[in-house]
Amino acid sequence: MKVVMVLYPGGETARQHPEVLGAAENALGLRGFLESAGHELVVLTEKERALDEVLPSTDVLVTTPFWPAYVTAERLARAPKLRLVLTAGVGSDHVDLAAAAARNVTVAEITGSNVVSVAEHTIMQILTLVRNYLPAYQQVIDGKWDIAEAAARSHDLEGKTVGIVGAGRIGQRVASRLKPFDVRVLYYDFRRLSTVEEEVLGIRYALLDRMLPECDVVTVHCPLTPETDGLFSRERLARMKKGAWLVNTARGKIVQTQPLVHALESGHLAGYAGDVWYPQPAPPDHPWRHMPHHALTVHVSGTSLEAQRRYADGIHDCLERYFAGRSLERDYLIVEGGKVVNPSYSYAFAH
Ligand code: NAI
Repeated sequence: MKVVMVLYPGGETARQHPEVLGAAENALGLRGFLESAGHELVVLTEKERALDEVLPSTDVLVTTPFWPAYVTAERLARAPKLRLVLTAGVGSDHVDLAAAAARNVTVAEITGSNVVSVAEHTIMQILTLVRNYLPAYQQVIDGKWDIAEAAARSHDLEGKTVGIVGAGRIGQRVASRLKPFDVRVLYYDFRRLSTVEEEVLGIRYALLDRMLPECDVVTVHCPLTPETDGLFSRERLARMKKGAWLVNTARGKIVQTQPLVHALESGHLAGYAGDVWYPQPAPPDHPWRHMPHHALTVHVSGTSLEAQRRYADGIHDCLERYFAGRSLERDYLIVEGGKVVNPSYSYAFAH
């Protein structure tokens, strides 16, 4: 079979560090496994023209959210042999799921592989914003010592209200990691957790638009679906408390680009952080790169070395099962048998 991987270019770093498995040079550590079993492996970093050229003869496509191949309906139409699209990581919104279902293409991701990694990054970014870490760090680099300037935007997290949008695997891990900070935690999800789960996590349910005006910090952990695309619009950002901080490690498109810039420039929001953008890679002139009071990183939260090992092992498992004609791990499936089957996505595609 022909397996095509679209992975980020790792250059000299990846050549010197084989443990950076998600880089094209290291092909998830799967080149030996695939070639010794007689499969053809094509690894691409160019995800437009080069991908379009190989698609007609591709059986399996592997890509990652960090450097996503956008698998549109048009691309699927040009790939008659394609039966399986795998995401090395979590979040398969770069695939047109409805079109994949219509063509009976299976879409799967490595559920759970990087949820701890993202939760840790989220806690780091909440603290980075609330404590005003980056401007204080920048003073050190710039040879300055202006305590008043650094302190004027620096707060304690203790006693604040944090709102979690999407209390799935990552959202729940963020909630449990927030416990020692003595914050009040609210959450919104279209599926309410059980009373016991809420009790254990110490979180309270609220509808989104009721929750937002109460929160000092809002952190987003729902998938990007037709329903969450642009969820943080101008109106919804305006509903947030003045001076609040917003963190989004879910997907860039959940927050609307220009309204966010405006909310930061006007001072309505105190800061924004996260690691997800649209498109990816973000062009050098993406407005979020240059807006005030942000602590964004490149899309790295879900690709720590430990996470890469876990999602590479997951892809290995999926490929082994697929070649042997066995079904994939149930939890990994997003689209199967012509339907969106993953509960986190299916709500958005059911109507
Ligand atoms: P999950 O499936 O365990 O949880 C997602 C939660 O969002 C579910 O509880 C679901 O009910 C809820 N949800 C779905 N639609 C919603 C809506 N319209 N409104 C409110 N809640 C909604 O997924 P997990 O593992 O927690 O990951 C969540 C998302 O985080 C992924 O879909 C992905 O987009 C993003 N992610 C980002 C990474 C990064 O490197 N920055 C790495 C891993 C995931």
